[in-house]
Amino acid sequence: MDSSTTRKGAHIELRGVGVTYAGGSVAVRDVDLTIAGGEFAVFLGPSGSGKSTLLRTINRLIEPTSGTVFIDGVDVRTLDPVVLRRGIGYVIQAVGLFPHLTIGANIGVVPALLGWDRARIARRVDELLALVDLEPATYRDRYPRQLSGGEQQRAGVARALAAEPRVLLMDEPFGAVDAIVRASLQDEIRRIQRELGTTIVFVTHDVDEALRLADRVIVIAGGGIAQADTPQRVLEAPANATVRSLVGIDAESRSFALERPLLERETP
Ligand SMILES: Nc1ncnc2c1ncn2[C@@H]1O[C@H](COP(=O)(O)OP(=O)(O)OP(=O)(O)O)[C@@H](O)[C@H]1O
Ligand SMILES: [Mg+2]
Repeated sequence: MDSSTTRKGAHIELRGVGVTYAGGSVAVRDVDLTIAGGEFAVFLGPSGSGKSTLLRTINRLIEPTSGTVFIDGVDVRTLDPVVLRRGIGYVIQAVGLFPHLTIGANIGVVPALLGWDRARIARRVDELLALVDLEPATYRDRYPRQLSGGEQQRAGVARALAAEPRVLLMDEPFGAVDAIVRASLQDEIRRIQRELGTTIVFVTHDVDEALRLADRVIVIAGGGIAQADTPQRVLEAPANATVRSLVGIDAESRSFALERPLLERETP
């Protein structure tokens, strides 16, 4: 996963992945899932269903107790986890910007670790700030506490994208912001994904967010996949009662969420 050029996102494959936590609680059971390069996949499911656990097996923050994760056909266990994680952007709800570093320095953390020279890092920082709609001259030298919650979220997305990762993992990244900022962040991440071709795996328990963003919605229930399908199919043909109860209650009113993204949606 070198970072020198922009390439299409990586292909991810989970084969028989299971996670049993110490103490015996089974969080994920026997998941088979293929995510195509450049696909926007959304894990949707209730609290405790295993979404975060499954997501973290991809960058080895959690080691599966059974099964294998492949990225571009390579078993991630054969890769140094630190190197692996530098190649995978990761965004969580609590943004986790370093409070003592400026926004520019925060965004430059991974490129600096990768040994990029200062001029290249500075160029990349400004490019990313512009990409997430934060005026570089205004924001690059500020500290995280001098940004609103939504601006910090944008900076967090910029940081995750800094070294042009081919995979971006996002775990409820927009949970802490209001509905309007959330909608604009959703638009931005969708645009970034189209422009860069990044493979994105995005976790949410918000049905409308899943429908707006996803090429494919992966409905997770009880640690397994209840349905993996296009937003439209999940709405129109829920695979079982669990999926129906999650999305089907007012499928009619939900279809509004599909209108805009569908126009832009292409097969990955
Ligand atoms: N470190 C841990 N040790 C033991 N059990 C855990 C641990 N982390 C999570 N679990 C359990 O594993 C299950 C799945 O948790 P996970 O965090 O993956 O759910 P989730 O779908 O992300 O939920 P949420 O929407 O609330 O974030 C839950 O039953 C949870 O209690
Ligand atoms: Mg979670």
